[in-house]
Amino acid sequence: CPVGVLISGRGSNMAALVEAAEAPGYPARIAVVIANKADAAGLDFARARGIPAIAVPHRDFADKAAFETAMTAELERHGVELVCLAGFMRLLSPVFIERWRDRLINIHPSLLPAYRGLHTHERALADGVRVAGCTVHFVVPEVDAGPIVAQAAVPVMPGDDADALSARVLAAEHRLYPHALALVASGAARVEGGAVVLTGVGA
Ligand code: GRF
Repeated sequence: CPVGVLISGRGSNMAALVEAAEAPGYPARIAVVIANKADAAGLDFARARGIPAIAVPHRDFADKAAFETAMTAELERHGVELVCLAGFMRLLSPVFIERWRDRLINIHPSLLPAYRGLHTHERALADGVRVAGCTVHFVVPEVDAGPIVAQAAVPVMPGDDADALSARVLAAEHRLYPHALALVASGAARVEGGAVVLTGVGA
């Protein structure tokens, strides 16, 4: 299954997907990486692995619709069937989300539905939670609200600050996202009636 990955910066989750997809038998291959910033560090990583890596700078376009049309054109040009958001920091319009409906997933650094939006780790620490984590979910127009594919829980340790917790959650993200993409790309996880149905998984 050809996959497009959208990034905005560092791209460490994208790198985890690229490395997982190099394993024999993995049900997805990374066909293209697109960044909305020309200087996104992740583009260099992808290029070094021989993966087409393209900047589609949102600032070059008159409006969001034109920017998203350009991204969809690049995704289609590379035969993409499934799109992964990986630290992609632009809100997508309902038109783009509908174009990729049930074929568009995102990773978010919290145990959704807790802590949608930004600054998840700061907010979790301020609330004194003892368990944090990350979620891979299908994208719907409401931000960080779509059907959940997979989650990983991570302990909050005494003395954690946002950087320490973020690093621990990020390590879990790098394990979770390849697992979740494999579920979706293989058809083991799919959306039915607004929820994720898992088949052939577990036990
Ligand atoms: C990750 O924590 C991801 O969950 C969030 O943004 C961060 C991106 O990091 N959406 P990276 O670019 O994948 O390194």
